[in-house]
Amino acid sequence: MKPGEASRTALGAAGHRAAHQALDGGLVFADPLAIPILGRDFEGAIAAARAAPERRGLRLFIAMRSRFAEDAARCAIERGVRQILVLGAGLDTFAYRLAANDRLRVFELDHPATQRDKRARLAAAGVAEPAHVAYVAHDFEHGAMTEALALGGLDSARRVFVLWLGVVPYLTEDAVFGTLAALAGFGGGVEVVFDYANPPPASEAPAARDHHAELAARVAESGEPFRCYLETAALHERERALGYLEIEDLDRAALVDRFLPSAPVKPRPGPGGHVVRMATR
Ligand SMILES: C[S@@+](CC[C@H](N)C(=O)[O-])C[C@H]1O[C@@H](n2cnc3c(N)ncnc32)[C@H](O)[C@@H]1O
Repeated sequence: MKPGEASRTALGAAGHRAAHQALDGGLVFADPLAIPILGRDFEGAIAAARAAPERRGLRLFIAMRSRFAEDAARCAIERGVRQILVLGAGLDTFAYRLAANDRLRVFELDHPATQRDKRARLAAAGVAEPAHVAYVAHDFEHGAMTEALALGGLDSARRVFVLWLGVVPYLTEDAVFGTLAALAGFGGGVEVVFDYANPPPASEAPAARDHHAELAARVAESGEPFRCYLETAALHERERALGYLEIEDLDRAALVDRFLPSAPVKPRPGPGGHVVRMATR
């Protein structure tokens, strides 16, 4: 990430969610704030989506991971969880669409420059910051996340639901497992949803390989290169060793079966993006 600048990939992900509303009718994931939060960048996001129809698969993946995570978060809230933690929140709007609820708190953690940009965009769109939102500045690569969250008011002795979307691929493996270990240490227990990508296989079809290489080059150019790919079996083993149970892991094909069952063209099964949900005790 370029020092002192807002995350470019946060803007990219938000652009995909906005395009999903405008071009797909919010088919998988309806987010009435996705377009307003983009403000002046909305037209550019739509133009980019129209100019590159091959990116629709990525757009739908981003919509499906949000839908999966928010469905699980709303179930947790119904069961009585009152602390939601959005790690690497970027321009995610979940906190601003949640109804004020008895003792509900949403903690958004990110780099300060990205948080400043988000808050300016919310103000420009006329979206009030609800009293239940707290902003916590932290860098996953440095310092103690648990302490930063405690200073921000999170009570790790009470259960926490964690959304960690679109962040793991940009971190070092040490930061990923350090964060999962810190969350597993929360005394009140956690439920976590995050996404990750398998390493691109050497045998991948040329079109898929080119598509991945083009995406990797694009994010690297924006100063946020992909740094972490994870093998599914090894990931699950390390998660279990950290104390996570009930691991539910969906690859693209499983996500499509769940959220787009009548899609005429199914994406290839196998390697690629995954979304995983898991919990401690
Ligand atoms: C691709 S964006 C995803 C944003 C959001 N979760 C979403 O789904 O739209 C990646 C986010 O991770 C944050 N991020 C990346 N590396 C980080 C780090 N080392 N520490 C804190 N935040 C980081 C970026 O600032 C950005 O908001």
